[in-house]
Parts: sequence; C-alpha cells; structure tokens
Amino acid sequence: MDNKLFTPGPLNTKLSVKEAMLHDMGSRDKEFLEIVKEIRSELLTIAGLTPEDGYDTVLMQGSGTFGVESVISTAIPADGHLLLITNGAYGNRIRQMAEIYDIKISILRYRENIVPPAQDVEVALKTDETITHVAIVHCETTTGIFNDIEGVGLVARKYNKVYIVDAMSSFGAVPIDIKALDIDFLVSSSNKCIEGVPGFSFVICKILTLESCYGNARTISLDLYGQWVDLKKNNQFRFTPPIQSILAFRKAIEELKAEGGIEKRSERYQQNYRRLIEGTEAVGLKTYLDKKDQGYIITSFLFPEDPNFDFTRFYESLHQRGQVIYQGKLSDTNCFRIGNIGQLYVEDIDRLVVAIGEVLTEMEVSC
Ligand SMILES: Cc1ncc(COP(=O)(O)O)c(C=O)c1O
Repeated sequence: MDNKLFTPGPLNTKLSVKEAMLHDMGSRDKEFLEIVKEIRSELLTIAGLTPEDGYDTVLMQGSGTFGVESVISTAIPADGHLLLITNGAYGNRIRQMAEIYDIKISILRYRENIVPPAQDVEVALKTDETITHVAIVHCETTTGIFNDIEGVGLVARKYNKVYIVDAMSSFGAVPIDIKALDIDFLVSSSNKCIEGVPGFSFVICKILTLESCYGNARTISLDLYGQWVDLKKNNQFRFTPPIQSILAFRKAIEELKAEGGIEKRSERYQQNYRRLIEGTEAVGLKTYLDKKDQGYIITSFLFPEDPNFDFTRFYESLHQRGQVIYQGKLSDTNCFRIGNIGQLYVEDIDRLVVAIGEVLTEMEVSC
C-alpha cells in the first residue's frame, strides 16, 4: 500500500484516477482533443462560471509554478506595474518572477502569520496610480493561512486593476466567486484539490483581459496568450501535452462530482482539519497560526520545545509507519506541516495522530 501523504501535493489519488492513465493516445487524436475541451469547460463549471460570463480556461504544461509564471510573464506588459501582496514563500516566488522579467513591482510584505489587510491595498492603489496589476496568493501554503482575496478583490475592482490570484492549493475545495471578485486570472494545478496527478496547471482567465495580452509574452513556452489561441482554435496544446495526466484529471473531475462537488469536498477537508486539530492538541502540539486565520488545507505546527525533539528523526519514524508529513517553509520559525487534502479521511487523520503520539513517546519528547 502507498504511504499516506499529508502534504500540499502531489497527493494520494483514487485508484480510478490512476487507472485512467493506463492508455496511450496521440496528442492530435480527436478523442484526446474532446477530452481537453471537456476539461476546459468542466473547470469553468467548477469555478461557478457559465460560458456567458466571459471566462475561458487555459491548460499549461508543467507544475503550478509554470502556470503562475505564464500569467506573470504574459499578463503584465512592459510598461505595467505589479502590486504584490505577500506573506509567504509562494508570494515571494511571484516577486522573483517579476524581477527576472524586469517587471516594475511594488510589494506589500507581511509576516507569515498576518492576513494582509485590504485597506493597505487601497492605500497603495490610491497613492500610486501607475499600478496596473494586483497579485495575491489565496491559501499561502507556506503556513496554511487563508488570505482575504474578497477584500483585496473589491479594492482591485474599485481601482480597475487586473487581479491575479494564485489559488493553487485552494481551488476545488474552497468556494471562490471569481465573477463577483472580478478575478482576471486564477491559477491552480492538476495535483491539488481536484485530486489529479501532477503534469499541468490551469488558468481561469477573463477573456477580455487575456485578449489584451497579445505580444506581452517574454518566453515561447509560457506564453499564456499563445497557448490560449491554439486551445481555442482546436483544443490542441502547442507542445507535447501531458496525455496521461490529462486522462487522470478527467477522471478526477468525475470523482469530484460524484463526491458532491466543491461543497462536499470542502466539508471532508474541514472534517479532516478539525480532527487533526483535536488529535494534535491532545498530544500537546501547537499550531503556528491563530485559529481565526488558519485555513483547512494545510496546518503548520511549531516544533515542540523539548530538546529531545529532532525533526529528521520525527519525520523518518513517521515515514516508516507509512505517514508522510511535510517540512516547514517559514522564514524564522521552526515548523512542520500537515495537509488534509487528497484521498484522506478522518480515519487516516486518526492513524496519523496515533503514530505521532507513538513517535513522540519513542523520542521521549514531552509537549
Ligand atoms: C500557493 C502555491 N503557489 C504555487 C505553488 C507552486 O506549485 P508547484 O510546486 O506545483 O510548482 C504551490 C505549491 O504547493 C502553492 O501551494
């Protein structure tokens, strides 16, 4: 049996999703192109959009970072100015992208345990009228914090800015009203809450905004506009598509619908989260974030203060028991992370908590 992955992805997937990959198919096969078409349309439905809403889905080969980079390098023109709101590693990665493409950037930076206030964004937009784009991460997976994409969206809309949301680890399990928030580009990937396997990212794009991006791309492979033009024409990728990953994703969408859609998946992840918090509190572990800011996708736990605690040994001992947790990613605090997403149920959380208790006892750590 495979290990249980309490990580932010790749995740445990259903057997049916893995089995869907047991096929060869040509990248120009009619059958494959129909599947791509179906996925593009299903993603809009999952996003709560209808064809009349003026959005389209662009699939992009590569992991989630490729999707975010395709947006940053295509959506923002040479004379654009990006306002980035960041409180973690994935926000900071967007800064790196802007810098490498020589995009003018202003940054509102916060500690990793702070939800950036939308009022600050308003002040920034009021103060500097040259800002053209606003970018934020929804669930900052560094900590698991849920950022206020609603508040920031309202402000971005008020000041008529292009709004970019990295919803990598939340889309499919956290309801997001893309239309009401007037999001121009929302990015996620195949191996997160839709529970497919790695291979591609996808961007839900406002067509009017995407249409204005012609000629902006800084690379061939990450040209979101170019990719869209070909997909729109005949559902073909410009370059080799991740066929098996796409087949798995179609099955994953079917499974999401069978589970009851975003609402039910969200419920299952929330149940996992609550069970995790109850269980870990009982063994004495403490979370990094204030509960009110903590999302239900992934949780950061502080290292126990006991000098007997050794993360490598803790990780390895859990791994030997088939339980895979995730290392921390915080800039100044020792943490590890436990995810609730993928094919995980409360029974799995219970088994993990028992294993954590055993390992802490074995290490003679008292929390
Ligand atoms: C919020 C967020 N953005 C971007 C990424 C990068 O995705 P990938 O590692 O698939 O490139 C991740 C990965 O977990 C993420 O959680």
